[in-house]
Amino acid sequence: MPHFIDFASVGKPALRAILDAAHARKAARRNADGSAWPKGRADADALLAGHVLAMIFERPSTRTRFSFDMGMRQLGGSAIVTTSTEMQLGRGETVADTARVLGRFVDAVMLRTASHATLIELADAAPVPVINGLSDISHPCQVLADIMTFEERSRRPVEGSCWAWLGDGNNMANSLIEAASVLNFDLRLGVPHGYDPDNGVLATACARGAAIDLVRSANDAVDCADVVVTDTWLSMGQDHAKEKLAAMLPFQVNAALMARAGQDAMFMHCLPAHRGEEVTDEVLDGPASAAWDEAENRLHVQKAILLWCLGAL
Ligand code: CP
Ligand code: NVA
Repeated sequence: MPHFIDFASVGKPALRAILDAAHARKAARRNADGSAWPKGRADADALLAGHVLAMIFERPSTRTRFSFDMGMRQLGGSAIVTTSTEMQLGRGETVADTARVLGRFVDAVMLRTASHATLIELADAAPVPVINGLSDISHPCQVLADIMTFEERSRRPVEGSCWAWLGDGNNMANSLIEAASVLNFDLRLGVPHGYDPDNGVLATACARGAAIDLVRSANDAVDCADVVVTDTWLSMGQDHAKEKLAAMLPFQVNAALMARAGQDAMFMHCLPAHRGEEVTDEVLDGPASAAWDEAENRLHVQKAILLWCLGAL
């Protein structure tokens, strides 16, 4: 079953095909004069006509929710959106039983979950493809959109580029580590002691021969970076912790840090941003920021992921 749970199981050739399709489909939604199509108009080939995606959210979402829903519409299909608390899941029906039943109604399921184990349980039992819409461990749809954004802005493939991650070793950091090891780009992680990424994810990526360095200084992390990436210091479900915020402060992405990275370096943030914490307004709203393209590219990359999952790529 072609689930989209992590990068390693999808593999490099399929990831390349997904990225190429995302670039091509985005370009195809522009007229010759450069004007964009109405956002709700289906793509000319409407490859997923008649297909339905179920989306289940255990956590809040703006980008993931709207981009998947619009993506299905543009592919000619539709989506059903719900929270886990509105389903029998919230009253104790097992994840596996839910998967079996959903497979009788819909063509694919996207889950945003507080526990990666739930995602695996769903995928193991589902007779239809399952897509990881963020877990406590990873956020591959977002990282693939980041890679698409890098290729679009720099006009070169991601292979051989150099990325710097600043701040918390969270789900986004884990997916970036995995992406670096599968798609062959360099990654420097500037992360304070005590907030490292997942050990297993890091060890597996290094065993694959990835060029990944864990450094303890923001300046060391961004030297020579083509892309500087950060994310919230407190992910969904984490309590406000003064101690953590204090440890993160030296890793804030501000104008001085971007200057150190170099004139052509771009800034990325998956959003939502906590302005004045992990990033300053000056950087997020400045010319190096690719954050808004990154958000838009969730739509384009996820359409290609859906096509791959449903055998239409
Ligand atoms: N970046 C991202 O996944 O945003 P949402 O939480 O709004 O979906
Ligand atoms: N690390 C963040 C990402 C949000 C899209 C979180 O898990 O809340």
